[in-house]
Amino acid sequence: MAHVLILPYPSQGHISPMLQFAMDLTSKGLNVTLVTTSYITKSINSQIGNVSIASISDGYDEGGVRSASSLEVYLDSLEVVGSKSLKELIEKYNQSTEPFTCMVFDTYVPWGDKVAKSVGLPSIAFSTQSCAVSAIYHLVRKEILDVPEPGIIKEMIGLPSMERSEFPSFALKDGSYPTLAAFALDQFNGNKNDWVLFNSFDELETEVKSSRLAITVLKDHFHARAIGPCVPFLPKADGHGNTYGMSLLEPEDDVCMKWLNGKPAKSVVYVSFGSFASIQNKQMEELAEGLKGSGKNFLWVVRAAEQKTLPKGFAENPGENGQIVTWSPQLKVLANEAVGCFLTHCGWNSTLEAISFGVPMLAMPQWTDQPTNAKFIEDVWGTGIRAKAGEEGFIGRKEIMKCIEEIMDGEKGCMIRNNAKKLKESAKEAVTDGGSSDRNLNEFVAYVNAMTE
Ligand code: UDX
Repeated sequence: MAHVLILPYPSQGHISPMLQFAMDLTSKGLNVTLVTTSYITKSINSQIGNVSIASISDGYDEGGVRSASSLEVYLDSLEVVGSKSLKELIEKYNQSTEPFTCMVFDTYVPWGDKVAKSVGLPSIAFSTQSCAVSAIYHLVRKEILDVPEPGIIKEMIGLPSMERSEFPSFALKDGSYPTLAAFALDQFNGNKNDWVLFNSFDELETEVKSSRLAITVLKDHFHARAIGPCVPFLPKADGHGNTYGMSLLEPEDDVCMKWLNGKPAKSVVYVSFGSFASIQNKQMEELAEGLKGSGKNFLWVVRAAEQKTLPKGFAENPGENGQIVTWSPQLKVLANEAVGCFLTHCGWNSTLEAISFGVPMLAMPQWTDQPTNAKFIEDVWGTGIRAKAGEEGFIGRKEIMKCIEEIMDGEKGCMIRNNAKKLKESAKEAVTDGGSSDRNLNEFVAYVNAMTE
């Protein structure tokens, strides 16, 4: 039986979709081992569904990324220590009865590809971001596409017209997070026959009003295939939802679900900025006042490490309509009918999860791929709106209140809900037997199985 090694970047937003992909491969009869850092494996099971979990060292076995002096220092150690540890792991498995057939590496772990090549293991790239974002990075890297100066709208083939602030932040080459920016821009270095898998689905990125599509642009350069949305809990056609097995933080499950269950349908604004983003104090204050002033119920995830950025006393007393939690079971929350809108940073997983559950989005993108995802949410799919920053550089409370009202009660909200409903159906169809992503996955599984013949 073919045995696939899956190597995600070690963070929630990368492990979740690649774990779901791993589960999908096991349901197609492949043997799969997901490899992550020793620090992370301490907080997850050694087997999730039929996927085995194995660990390598990143040099920070006790404290993970947060115990490193900076992200850049961590990334350096992850590559140096991780490469050595990964090579040893592959060699160990290859002497066992279950040798690896190939490796699927996250494009944010490019050294995984180098290790695979050094031991003669076929390798396949997996992008946890959208086809549009990946196409932009690739075209910028190849100097086929220039990011426009502020105030100029760029017309692009296969993509919506965009201004500078709507481009993914690493394409701006502004010098911040140089290692991550290099990963983003150098993602696909291979040749035309190389497989590149995307956590997206064809129908999602074919709605661009243009003659060609982001996925088609990528197909010019690679054997690109969209196999998503890799969203746990998305019910399969046969009625068997997949099990969700991995949360790196402890969700306040009972608090969230009890609170939501007492609320009327479509009455709650769910607020989350994912696992990484850090919001400035002033913005947190405006958001807190905006949510309170909206008069709507709100469930707001503020991670424990971020609670100090909330206005004094707000965590304990967010008003009678509010509930603050440190981490939520997000998929269960989005699936709950009390939720009427998702105020989100537009991380790609959160975006796909909102799409998969048909939840309208209020976009407050922060960095990396999020501004581009927000552009698609508002202008391409029509499943949400973007809150606009004022001249001071942050989004004011009045703007937040106006957007919440527009999306929950306004005429536009009605259109948005209809679009969200249609897109949800289309997401479900894509992963259903015979749907576009299911067909692409079958093609990939056949490719892997052929390696063992
Ligand atoms: C990061 C980047 O920001 C994102 O843009 C990129 O595409 C992937 O990596 P992150 O910022 O964490 O990820 O955001 P997102 O992609 O939305 O992933 C967050 C994940 O955490 C989601 O799967 C979400 O369901 C989960 N989550 C979030 C919870 O389970 N509970 C919470 O309270 C908040």
